[in-house]
Amino acid sequence: MAQLPPVDIFDYIVFGATGDLTMRKLLPALYYRYRDGQIPDQARIIGTARSPLSRADFQARAEKALQNFVKPADLDPDLARRFLALVHYVSLNGAEAGSNWPGLKDLLAEAPADRIRVYYLATAPDLYGRICENLSTQGLVTDQSRVVLEKPIGTDLASADEINDGVGRFFPENHIFRIDHYLGKETVQAVIALRFANPVFERLWSSDAIDYVQITAAETVGVEGRGPYYDKSGAMRDMIQNHLLQVLCLVAMDPPGSLEADSLRNEKLKVLRALRPITPEDVAVSTVRARYGAGEMGGKPVPGYLEDLGENAVSNTETFVAIRAQVDTWRWGNVPFYLRSGKRMAQKSSEIVIQFKTTPWSIFPEKPAANRLVIRIQPDEGVMLTVSTKDPTPTDSVALRQADINIAFEKAFATRYPDAYERLLLDVVRGDPVLFIRRDEVEAAWRWADPILQGWAENKSPLETYPAGSWGPDAARALLAERGHRWHEDMV
Ligand code: BG6
Repeated sequence: MAQLPPVDIFDYIVFGATGDLTMRKLLPALYYRYRDGQIPDQARIIGTARSPLSRADFQARAEKALQNFVKPADLDPDLARRFLALVHYVSLNGAEAGSNWPGLKDLLAEAPADRIRVYYLATAPDLYGRICENLSTQGLVTDQSRVVLEKPIGTDLASADEINDGVGRFFPENHIFRIDHYLGKETVQAVIALRFANPVFERLWSSDAIDYVQITAAETVGVEGRGPYYDKSGAMRDMIQNHLLQVLCLVAMDPPGSLEADSLRNEKLKVLRALRPITPEDVAVSTVRARYGAGEMGGKPVPGYLEDLGENAVSNTETFVAIRAQVDTWRWGNVPFYLRSGKRMAQKSSEIVIQFKTTPWSIFPEKPAANRLVIRIQPDEGVMLTVSTKDPTPTDSVALRQADINIAFEKAFATRYPDAYERLLLDVVRGDPVLFIRRDEVEAAWRWADPILQGWAENKSPLETYPAGSWGPDAARALLAERGHRWHEDMV
C-alpha cells in the first residue's frame, strides 16, 4: 500500500450522507486514502441528512458500506475501526433555515476556527443554493471553507445558471469544486500524459494525420433503482454533457502552458466554445437517440427500459446517444468526434479511439490499414496502438498483417487502480481545482447541449430502440457509415 503525504486536518461535511453516493463512493474512497496515510487521525467526516440517526447508527451504516464496497483484501479490521472513529453524524435538513443547525455548529466549533472545511453537496442540485445560504447565515462559511457540487449542475443552461448563482453568492469561484468523476479516473488523466509527454503522438495530433475520433462510455447496467432521477435526465444530461465532453476536451485541447488549474481549464474551455452548434434542425443528421428494449445480458433475458421504470410507465427519455460532433479549430479541420454512451449495452467499456489516416500511396499489393490508437479508460485500463507489419508467413511477396502494441497499465505498473473519487476528494482538501470544472465550462457545455435537447423534445429525430445487450440501434452504425467510418467493435 502506498504512503502518501498527509493533508492538513479537515472536517468533511457531507449533505445527503445517507444516499448511495456516500456509501458506494465517498466513504470507501476516504477509507483508502486513510489507509494510504493521507488522512490525519484528527480529521472528521460528518454525515448530515434528514434521517434521525445517532452517530452509532451512521457509523454502523458506514461500516457496512466499507464491507460492501472495499475489496475484502484491503479491509483491515483495525484500520476500519480507526477510520470509523472519524465518522460523525448530525440529523439536519440543509435546505431549511430552522433545522438542526446548532447541532452542526456545535460540532464544528469543537475544532479550531481555521480548520479546513469541505461542504460536500450530494443532495438534489436544486437545493444547493439554499444549503449554501443556510451555511452562510449560520456563520459556517469560513475563509478555509470549500463547497463541492455533484453533477448534474442543472438540466439546461438556465437552471445551471440558477444553481451557480445560488452557490456563488456565498462562495467565491475558487472555493467551488464542481466534480466530474471522469476527470478523477487515472486513464483520463493519462490522456494528458500520453499527449504532452510523448512528442511522437502530439506531432500527429491533428487533422493532418487523424481521420476521426470516437469516445465511448458503454455500460451494461440499466437504470436499476435510479429511474425517477434518470428518466428526467437521460443519457445526454447524465453522461454526454459532462463526462464525455470533458474527455473530448482533453483529447482535443491545445497544449496548456502548464498543469496549473486555469491554464488547463482555459484550453478545455476553448474546445467547448469551438464545438460546432448542432441546431434543432440538425439533430436528425448529426445525432441518434434511443432507448433499450427487452433483450439478453450474459445469456439471461432482461426487461426493457419502460418495464424497468415500472408499470404503465410513459417516457420519451433516451438511454443511448450517439453524436457526430465537430471542433471548429485549425487543428481539427473536419475531423468528426463521435461521442457515444448507453446503458444496457453489450459490454462495459469506456474508451477513446483515435483513427489515423492511411498512407497516401501504397507500395504494397494491398493498401495498409490505418493506424489506430485506443486508450482504454475502463476496464482493462491501457493503451493500444495497432500497426501494420510484414506477415512472416513464407510467401514470394510482402504481405501485411496488423498487430497491436498493447500496454495493460495494471500489469505494466503493478499497481492498484484507485477509484476516481479518491484523488478528487483529497484535491478539494488540498485546494487544488485542476481536475474540477469551472463555471464557464459548465455554461459552454450546456450551450452546446441545449439545442440538441430542444430538437429531441420537438421530436425532430425519432427515439430509436435497441435490444438490451447490443451495441445500440442500427442508426448509430449508419451515422458513421455515411462517412465510411466504423465503430471500434465493428473493426476487425
Ligand atoms: C454517473 C452517471 O455520473 O456515471 C451514471 O450518473 C453512470 O448513470 C456513471 O452509471 C458511470 O460512471 P463509471 O465511473 O462507472 O463509468
